Amino acid sequence: MVLSQESTPDVVNQGCYDFHLSELIRQRAWVEIDQNALSHNVRQFKALLKHDTDLMAVVKADAYGHGAVRVAQMVLEAGATWLAIATLGEGIELREAGIMAPILILGAINTPEEVRAIIHWQLEPTLCNAEQAILFAKTLEKQAKKLSVHLKLDTGMSRLGTSWQQAINFVQTVKGLPNLHLASIYSHLATADAPDRTVMEQQQHRFEAAIADLQKHGIKIPKLHLANSAATLNGPKFHYDLVRVGLGLYGLYPAPHLRSQIDLKPVLQVKAKISQIKMIPPGTGVSYGHQFVSDRETRLAIVGIGYADGVPRNLSNRLQVLIRGEWVKQIGAITMDQMMLDITHLPHLPVGEVVTLIGTDGDRAISADDWANTLGTISWEVLCGFKHRLPRIII
Ligand SMILES: Cc1ncc(COP(=O)(O)O)c(C=O)c1O
Repeated sequence: MVLSQESTPDVVNQGCYDFHLSELIRQRAWVEIDQNALSHNVRQFKALLKHDTDLMAVVKADAYGHGAVRVAQMVLEAGATWLAIATLGEGIELREAGIMAPILILGAINTPEEVRAIIHWQLEPTLCNAEQAILFAKTLEKQAKKLSVHLKLDTGMSRLGTSWQQAINFVQTVKGLPNLHLASIYSHLATADAPDRTVMEQQQHRFEAAIADLQKHGIKIPKLHLANSAATLNGPKFHYDLVRVGLGLYGLYPAPHLRSQIDLKPVLQVKAKISQIKMIPPGTGVSYGHQFVSDRETRLAIVGIGYADGVPRNLSNRLQVLIRGEWVKQIGAITMDQMMLDITHLPHLPVGEVVTLIGTDGDRAISADDWANTLGTISWEVLCGFKHRLPRIII
């Protein structure tokens, strides 16, 4: 079986068969990643920062559904100097791919096995309290190695971290442990995307009060960081030594009122192909539960993408897609691997036609924000829904 004999860089030789890879993976459903858009977004964020403020690219959750390894390589090439992930496994995936940049684990670490893996893979952990610091120090004693650690203060998110009011005890414990190098102190903001800055500024005041207290106790202040995408766009007073940017790098705005601060381009497009076309008479039920029943003769297109690929089932009968620049309605329940479209108004479409679920087609576009608004959720969740089953093609 020879699918293509073309000799382009993305031809993969598998045994005696030649697969033209990008053609093969475009047969069903896929994600396209626009490298130029990603680099543009990195440059846009860099342009907001002082020359000595680092850009940490948050590539957790498989780079928000974009593919962690390739995104990490591309953002580092474009000017980011740090990476952040949530779990140990995500960090190991990047190291196994040969990525050497400093990697901060944002999640909590609680067992000696995890500590040993962190040391082995040269990852940098977040310490949320003194107990974790002691666990790290004990495990390191046996290894006779020094590890850079990042301390998390809770200034109002009420998630990970030691209360800002107990920062002194926490930091002094860490300073007293010779195998730990205090690399940074950070906190995370709960409402940076809200137009009302009151809570964000209260959190910043608490962060600064804790730092001032440390200074009074003669503690040398390491790197400080506080900002996610939204806080970064709220102005330089939130930037400190490093900003941790996720959503914005992928070309989405954390909130409508922050749009004027930066020009971002969406990085991801989701596409699929029509796999079958048929006519159904009036009164025909479509898909599980017959949630849709045709009221006229309908030209039905079956498309090879479903909720197992990251198209939420809750979008059933509420989703619009684009084909040849025209709006097309999705009808009936979205199933695990497939969905149905009403293409009655486009009678000449053939099987194999490309459907854009997220992205631009002609003058029209659909964004992760559109899906999020329909679903009553946030674009972060929509993006994270696109899992490994959808191959990613870098454009
Ligand atoms: C601790 C921390 N910092 C930064 C970010 C990046 O946030 P955003 O995607 O809004 O830029 C996240 C994401 O959830 C986070 O948990």
